[in-house]
Amino acid sequence: MSLLSQRHMLGLADYSAEDIQTILDTALQMRDILDRPVKKVPTLRGVTVVNLFLENSTRTRTSFELAEKRLSADTLNFSASGSALSKGETMLDTALNIEAMKVDVVVMRHKSPGSPHFLARHLESIIINAGDGRHEHPTQGLLDMLTLRDKFGTLKGLRVALVGDILHSRVAMSNIIGLKKMGAEVIICGPATLIPRGLANMGVEITHSLDDVIQKADALNILRIQLERQSSGLFPSLREYHKYFGVNRVRLEKAATPLTILHPGPINRGVEITSDVADSEHSVILQQVTNGVAVRMAVLYLLAGGRAETSDSKAA
Ligand code: CP
Repeated sequence: MSLLSQRHMLGLADYSAEDIQTILDTALQMRDILDRPVKKVPTLRGVTVVNLFLENSTRTRTSFELAEKRLSADTLNFSASGSALSKGETMLDTALNIEAMKVDVVVMRHKSPGSPHFLARHLESIIINAGDGRHEHPTQGLLDMLTLRDKFGTLKGLRVALVGDILHSRVAMSNIIGLKKMGAEVIICGPATLIPRGLANMGVEITHSLDDVIQKADALNILRIQLERQSSGLFPSLREYHKYFGVNRVRLEKAATPLTILHPGPINRGVEITSDVADSEHSVILQQVTNGVAVRMAVLYLLAGGRAETSDSKAA
């Protein structure tokens, strides 16, 4: 039984401000566990989680796996290469076969938007979206919000700018949805070709001037320029992109007060962000990574904790 109002985590669009608050508060308790000499609790003992990553990942995958281990869940990692997917088995057949081995939770990353929603319609397991195409990356949105709340004490009234490739970014989408629900002001900044049409309907401010954003934002969440998209002609060159939208120390020094710098990773140093900014005292990039484990522990506990209690009570 879920301790939230949702059974799955498919996107922050389904989540209320109250549920988001519960997750962020629970993540603080999880972070205390991570600071202990023995970083492990029996909370999810007896629960089996499969990490079904059908698209590459460094942070999200390792972070989910660590979160599962810290909570004593049994974990299974599955990737497309070396599996029967390469022999033509469908994703649904693969997932149903894995579920038939008595799995409780499926954490899924996939390049196609809506893939976790599809699995949620066909499987009994709890589904957690670890990034579906350009749609949503809910746990990244949550860990970004936790990092901002740590720094500023509240999200209400905070001015957060998302800078860069908004068009292809699931991180941007989950940040916009989550931050708006929690009362923050969201500013979107990037070249017009990298900002989707209709975004203004989500209640965000849109600008193409990074220097203006630096004057009015409290924090910049700088998004990766997806190098694999460069050939599609959405911007002339990386050099040109960096000239207008690259965040560097000289630009940031024009701010009235220092801006907090976030980046979900992976970073393209010298393109969307320079090393002197990424590694500066105002960067919280590695705090984001630490918070990622705590947030994923909180999500797993709140969605699947009820199952562990059921199996414990059955055993008793
Ligand atoms: N932030 C993020 O999703 O990174 P990975 O692609 O490495 O998981």
